Amino acid sequence: MENSKKIKIGIIGGSGFDDPNLFENPVELDLSTPFGKPSDVLLSGQIAGVPCVLLARHGRKHQYQPSDVNYRANIWALKQAGCTHVLATTATGSLVEDYQPGDLVILDDFIDRTWGRKCTFYDRTEGGPRGVCHLPMHPAFCERSRRALQDAARLRGYKYHENGTAVVIQGPRFSSRAESLMHRQWGGHLVNMTTVPEVNLAKEAGLSYAAVALVTDYDCWRKDEKSVSVSEVLAMFAKNVKKAADVILDAVQILAADTDLEYLDAHENMVSSAIMLKE
Ligand code: ADE
Repeated sequence: MENSKKIKIGIIGGSGFDDPNLFENPVELDLSTPFGKPSDVLLSGQIAGVPCVLLARHGRKHQYQPSDVNYRANIWALKQAGCTHVLATTATGSLVEDYQPGDLVILDDFIDRTWGRKCTFYDRTEGGPRGVCHLPMHPAFCERSRRALQDAARLRGYKYHENGTAVVIQGPRFSSRAESLMHRQWGGHLVNMTTVPEVNLAKEAGLSYAAVALVTDYDCWRKDEKSVSVSEVLAMFAKNVKKAADVILDAVQILAADTDLEYLDAHENMVSSAIMLKE
């Protein structure tokens, strides 16, 4: 692979990547960051020759609910481990008829309905970066990594959508029907609980970040249909997660074959130009 020595790809997921033979030369990294401990140890090694680092967003025992995940430590730890990219999977409810359970969606935007989550590295934490960071949020996701995920999904022949706006709710409860209808009116295609602040922290860290969403349910906006339930989400996720993992693993190879890595500098430069009052 052309750039297998220059890039390192963080994968935030967990389920779907549990094949013990996936990594060549795997090493567990037990990292600490200025922002605390990540959700679990990181697994570092090569996937088909490309350096990769795997992290379970909710911990390997799924011990952290969405509002308790230490997103800052997760992203910082991946950066500390040398990652240039982060590719993530996420379970999502659908807010539109056409995005059906089982489909994959390569996210391109979000609406933030979370509250109280630590959503910046620039808060004067000891050991963290200095200054005030006003980061532009468009485009929210890295276009190059999104394209790699789209190409991978298309080449596999999986049903996928090139774009999707995720409304990110605080959880842990699901939306009420009135909320779900409002999210539809706002233009959301999907609803989940984890894309914020993961996407904006990855951007602050200068990483190329993209996410493949797996549609698990229709939330609760459809008339005469039962509301989303945990059992439905888990069953649909388990049934389809291999597709999301395949897409990520193929995208790793696509990104490693790229000869032009200028987009990575562009991500770093974007952060530098967004920082005021650097002391
Ligand atoms: N994750 C999967 N389905 C969801 C839904 N309907 N709402 C929020 N998060 C979800």
